[in-house]
Amino acid sequence: MELNEALEKRRSYRALKEFELTEDIISGLAEAASLAPSCYNNQPWRFVFIYEKDKLKEFHTALSGGNSWAQNCPLLIAVFAKTEDDCVSGEREYYLFDTGLAVENLLLKAVDLGLVAHAMAGYDEDRAREILNISEENRLITVIGVGQQATDTKKAQQEQKRPERLPREEFVFHNELKDKED
Ligand SMILES: Cc1cc2nc3c(=O)[nH]c(=O)nc-3n(C[C@H](O)[C@H](O)[C@H](O)COP(=O)(O)O)c2cc1C
Repeated sequence: MELNEALEKRRSYRALKEFELTEDIISGLAEAASLAPSCYNNQPWRFVFIYEKDKLKEFHTALSGGNSWAQNCPLLIAVFAKTEDDCVSGEREYYLFDTGLAVENLLLKAVDLGLVAHAMAGYDEDRAREILNISEENRLITVIGVGQQATDTKKAQQEQKRPERLPREEFVFHNELKDKED
């Protein structure tokens, strides 16, 4: 798929349905994520692919109520990273940034595979860590629900329009930002 098409098609749909999960899908998503740049090529990201029925069911208890749509996903991906696995420059810790780059690669690869990958922040991190056996030092940065887009439901109708983006002048600046008070 051409890049612009994937960028345009990527959406965080909530109307999702099952699809047949294969090893190739997991491997394709992992490969795309691994090609992301990272500070000193540190690759701080860690992905837990959750697909066993019992584990999925258990993990649903860690998701916030507003994310019950993710219960239709046959694959959830918990994304972890820790500060000491990546560059730290004064107050700048790069593990979150670099993991975000890897996540966007994965989201776009899902589009390429005809799937929807939807990132979430609504979950109980401690509960998720307990279920997946992950140490305190790791941050659960996001959980990604992967499904097939459902187009024939009322929910699907309601989310046809992409959420609005900021007008260019609010986020593009030329030569200086000028956000200091004079
Ligand atoms: C870090 C992050 C956290 C998000 N958390 C949630 C969430 O908990 N539940 C949800 O339904 N969508 C969540 N979203 C999806 C956003 O609402 C969505 O990306 C945004 O509205 C733009 O829509 P689009 O992705 O379809 O272009 C999250 C997205 C990101 C990147």
